[in-house]
Amino acid sequence: MTTVPTLATQNLERNGYLDLDIDPTLDLIEEIKRLKKEKNAVILAHYYQDGDIQDIADYIGDSLGLSQKAAATDADVIVFAGVHFMAETAKILSPSKKVLLPDLKAGCSLADSCPPHLFRKFKEKYPDHLVVSYINCTAELKTLTDICCTSTNAVQIIESIPQNQPIIFAPDKNLGAYLMKKTGREMVIWNGACMVHEIFSHERIVKLRARHPNAKFIAHPECEAHILEMADYIGSTTGLLKYTINDPATEFIVATESGILHQMQKNSPTKTFIPAPPENQCACNDCPHMKRNTLEKLYLCMAYELPEIILPDWVIEQGRASIDRMLAISAKAGLIG
Ligand code: 13P
Ligand code: SF4
Repeated sequence: MTTVPTLATQNLERNGYLDLDIDPTLDLIEEIKRLKKEKNAVILAHYYQDGDIQDIADYIGDSLGLSQKAAATDADVIVFAGVHFMAETAKILSPSKKVLLPDLKAGCSLADSCPPHLFRKFKEKYPDHLVVSYINCTAELKTLTDICCTSTNAVQIIESIPQNQPIIFAPDKNLGAYLMKKTGREMVIWNGACMVHEIFSHERIVKLRARHPNAKFIAHPECEAHILEMADYIGSTTGLLKYTINDPATEFIVATESGILHQMQKNSPTKTFIPAPPENQCACNDCPHMKRNTLEKLYLCMAYELPEIILPDWVIEQGRASIDRMLAISAKAGLIG
């Protein structure tokens, strides 16, 4: 029988997570497994989480896969090892369940780049346009959205919309530009971006490729156009992972958040994976938001069932339609994240 530390919610308000002393002899992995059973909880983790969190998760996936799991789970508690917009999406899809996020400050620069009050005004300028939003946006932005998309299904979502229907695409200008090129559709694009995918250095990638002539260069569509132009393959995190499993190459230069390398290496232990270099020497392809989650925070959040994602009813009701439409189009196209 283990004892849990005394609860002090002030530190949750201050830090965004529970910051309590944990007995250093505690086997966190065993404790998390015990809590999972005791509370009938499911741990959903994004590929950008640290390897130790991915290894304890019940399901690891990209944004589409995680939404599909959140919609289908029969667990009582969803523990979301990811960022705030993902946990909000899980809450919208499963409003009767308790949704926990180990660190409430695990936000997203892309979601932050599209404040709903400014987007509402922007949208008013295009009254006949349909709004497609990348799922990397706030729950409130989803209430202003007709159809959500993820990087796995974005092409199919755009192609499902009649040719003569004008579209606003938010919030990622890089994914938007990629989709315009791929589908041949003109769209009005919101000027947002992800801080991690905008950091890659064209010059340093070119030099790295010269040193590794047999390596395949693969990139996430949140990257800028001049990076995508060099890519042998462009895809979502699940798409990139599958590509590295199925492609005969033995070396890959990977332009996305570095957490995905854990699964790539696990699935293909004899292959070499090199993170694409950023503009400067720092570890900028680590998402600082994703990496706020730790095993300690995961344990505390499961022990105390805090912090919890709470959304107003109107946001759940009005945000849901855009995600349901996305899931329906994905199911019809046979897409699994
Ligand atoms: P996917 O999960 O769709 O690959 O998107 C990556 C991402 O940026 C999540 O924050
Ligand atoms: Fe947001 Fe970019 Fe981090 Fe994904 S990697 S959570 S898009 S900041």
